[in-house]
Amino acid sequence: MSNLQRLDKVLSNLEFGSRKEIRLLMKQERVKVNDTTVKDPGIQVDPETSIIKIDDREIMYKKYIYIMMNKPDGVISATFDKRHKTVVNLLPGEFKRFDVFPAGRLDIDTEGLILLTNDGQLAHEILSPKKHIPKTYFARVRGLVDSSDIEKFSGGITLDDGYRTFPAQLEVLNSSEVSEVKLTIYEGKFHQVKRMFQVVEKEVIYLKRISMGGLILDNSLALGECRELTKAEVREIKVKC
Ligand code: URA
Repeated sequence: MSNLQRLDKVLSNLEFGSRKEIRLLMKQERVKVNDTTVKDPGIQVDPETSIIKIDDREIMYKKYIYIMMNKPDGVISATFDKRHKTVVNLLPGEFKRFDVFPAGRLDIDTEGLILLTNDGQLAHEILSPKKHIPKTYFARVRGLVDSSDIEKFSGGITLDDGYRTFPAQLEVLNSSEVSEVKLTIYEGKFHQVKRMFQVVEKEVIYLKRISMGGLILDNSLALGECRELTKAEVREIKVKC
């Protein structure tokens, strides 16, 4: 299916300047489409198939973008907030021209993997309650977590509102006054991990998402940093969703 659009609109959407500035670039014969210099800003191009160059450098057009971020504490997983910084505010300039939004939510004090995209279909699949996409968290929990908790979690936990979670896999990494655990859950209920531990009378004091639907948080990303998913990662998450 062709997706014809005015050249000046395509270039201004890609933030190569205002329509006026782009017209000037064309007048200066700096813009080529399929190796032909073009001066008509209204020429129709298909940004996905036409080869557009400015000063002989090819413009990379992408419809969808998929970004993984290591969300820090104190930042909201939303596009806009009056009081707090959002994950979208943390994006570097190169990603700002894409209208991305977070596919899923983490509490303000939860760190770790969050996916930002402008692919509404994929976000919808990830968030669909019917899909049961696995999400794994690392948590520090006040209280001794032991095999009885593993057993309870594996049968599903009835939350304070009566909802019974899917069976969840709890792995104890270190059991002491402050235990360290990994927990995989299959829904995204409000404060789910914290509420599951409340039921077994323990308190989550640190929470970080480390994977979601086969996508694993890149350990080289510092808190607040992000990067585009590789093609293999995009394939993986699309297969899992
Ligand atoms: N469970 C929680 O309690 N908080 C999160 O941010 C994610 C899962």
